[in-house]
Amino acid sequence: MKYFIDTANVEEIRKAAELGIIDGVTTNPSLIAKEGRVFEEVIKEITEIVDGPISAEVVSLDAEGMVKEADELVKIHENIVIKVPMTAEGLKATSMLSSKGIKVNVTLIFSATQALAAAKAGAAFVSPFAGRLDDIGADGMALIEEIMYIFKSYGVRAEVIAASIRNRNHLTQAAMAGADIATIPFKVIMDSLKHPLTDQGIEKFLKDWEGAKK
Ligand code: E4P
Repeated sequence: MKYFIDTANVEEIRKAAELGIIDGVTTNPSLIAKEGRVFEEVIKEITEIVDGPISAEVVSLDAEGMVKEADELVKIHENIVIKVPMTAEGLKATSMLSSKGIKVNVTLIFSATQALAAAKAGAAFVSPFAGRLDDIGADGMALIEEIMYIFKSYGVRAEVIAASIRNRNHLTQAAMAGADIATIPFKVIMDSLKHPLTDQGIEKFLKDWEGAKK
């Protein structure tokens, strides 16, 4: 499973990239707004840190507007992937962009039929949001499993990004479901590296080492 980092904070991206486990980056308008910086500048800086797909989201609601924004965004770097919302207009834009060879990540997916439609429209990536489904009492990871089952059954080529990942358990479940990619907040990435027995083990090794013959 590929690891994307889900943030627009370049320091977080830099730190995670240094670990050698980051294959790409996803951003969204909320994450960009949190940084208080110019959108295009942030995206450009990210492309200089990570050599992999970098999702930049459009904010227009009509297909024509989305395509116009996308045409500008892809000028920033060849790794830019255009993120569009899962709407009828978003699908129209996906179809237009993918026929021009521009990669699209269809976001805000909450059902298997949405994922199928996005893939049929030509999306390179589909992003089902697990955490937000859990928030309303539904089973987010069951959706990832459903989509993986359907995509495998029909040989659908779009890659599935398990999104809205809230904890390391989500990460394990996404991997168990066979998700192609998980896009993960920095905090969850760092959390997923830890185990209390690892810390206790280090402590014991160092303590024992003090008594070793030198
Ligand atoms: C995906 O690309 C989104 O940016 C993200 O995973 C949304 O996660 P949230 O539900 O934690 O905001």
